[in-house]
Amino acid sequence: MKEESIIKNYDLFDDKTLDNTIRPESIAEYIGQNDVKENIKVFVEAAKMRDEALDHVLLYGPPGLGKTTLAFIIAHELGTHIKTASGPSIEKSGDLAAILSSLEPGDVLFIDEIHRMPRYIEEILYPAMEDFSLDIIVGSEGNSRNIKIDLPPFTLVGATTRAGDLSAPLRDRFGIVSKLQFYTIEELKEIIKRTARVLKIEIEEDAAEELAKRSRGTPRIANRLFKRVRDFAMVEGMSSIDKEITEQALSKLKVDKMGLDNTDHELLLAIINKFNGGPVGIEALGSSIGEEVTTIEDVYEPYLLQMGLLKRTSRGRVVTDKAYEVLGIKKEK
Ligand SMILES: Nc1ncnc2c1ncn2[C@@H]1O[C@H](COP(=O)(O)OP(=O)(O)OP(=O)(O)O)[C@@H](O)[C@H]1O
Ligand SMILES: [Mg+2]
Repeated sequence: MKEESIIKNYDLFDDKTLDNTIRPESIAEYIGQNDVKENIKVFVEAAKMRDEALDHVLLYGPPGLGKTTLAFIIAHELGTHIKTASGPSIEKSGDLAAILSSLEPGDVLFIDEIHRMPRYIEEILYPAMEDFSLDIIVGSEGNSRNIKIDLPPFTLVGATTRAGDLSAPLRDRFGIVSKLQFYTIEELKEIIKRTARVLKIEIEEDAAEELAKRSRGTPRIANRLFKRVRDFAMVEGMSSIDKEITEQALSKLKVDKMGLDNTDHELLLAIINKFNGGPVGIEALGSSIGEEVTTIEDVYEPYLLQMGLLKRTSRGRVVTDKAYEVLGIKKEK
């Protein structure tokens, strides 16, 4: 591929349209998450055979692993429409009633960040999920009455980074509950190669592998790093992304060999230097590095736990021997 074609592609896509371009649309294009995919395929097929709405689906797992993508794919595979809302944006019962009554039979209603939905909204959702009926109060004070509206059968797809924050009655109403896992390096490599193909940019095998290793098991990060490396390659006038430019770019972006960034380093170093390796409570840790507790729990910690650099104990967070090793710090007795 010639240099000018890279530039042309670069001009064509700003980051936002680019995100939509590279998002897989069908289950066949969705890489990895094989268990989840196999289950969804069977349930979708069965629902179509029975001509019924698919059972409600709860997708949970760390950010960027493909929950939103999968929700859209489910609607695509069912051949239905999808309406989207996010937990915190549904403030009034009327908001939810309006969305629910706009659904057509078999449609998917996707609620992102479903754990952040107000409790009184949740309660409207219970009968809607169970019996496809909407119980609402109409009229003003002193002259109000309950009315019951039948809804078409629909599928609620809920996504959350914190399944633990969901109330039990809500969680129990999902027939299909799927946890998304971090991706393997092989899978991330496939995702990076697919993104490169879609954007018509060449990337060498070992460069894709290097990027994959540093993507924290997360497709969103893989795509983001790919785009930045592409920028460096473009400025250098390269026709294809090789391992050397990838390594250079990633070191400029301060992403280390394991994919850890500045905040990960700060977090581990704070536990080692300020709390003697731990255990330290999450609040104390958060204030010592200036990060929100929820950000640490949702964004940083899952990968550090997965990589065996951090441990959760009943008394707080502890860094592991592996963390000392990776950071090149001698553990004091
Ligand atoms: N299995 C996959 N195969 C290929 N690309 C993927 C896959 N999963 C996710 N992606 C890519 O990663 C990006 C992030 O995925 P998505 O937005 O679905 O994550 P999410 O789990 O909804 O994150 P959040 O918790 O922040 O909402 C998508 O734009 C898509 O391009
Ligand atoms: Mg999402």
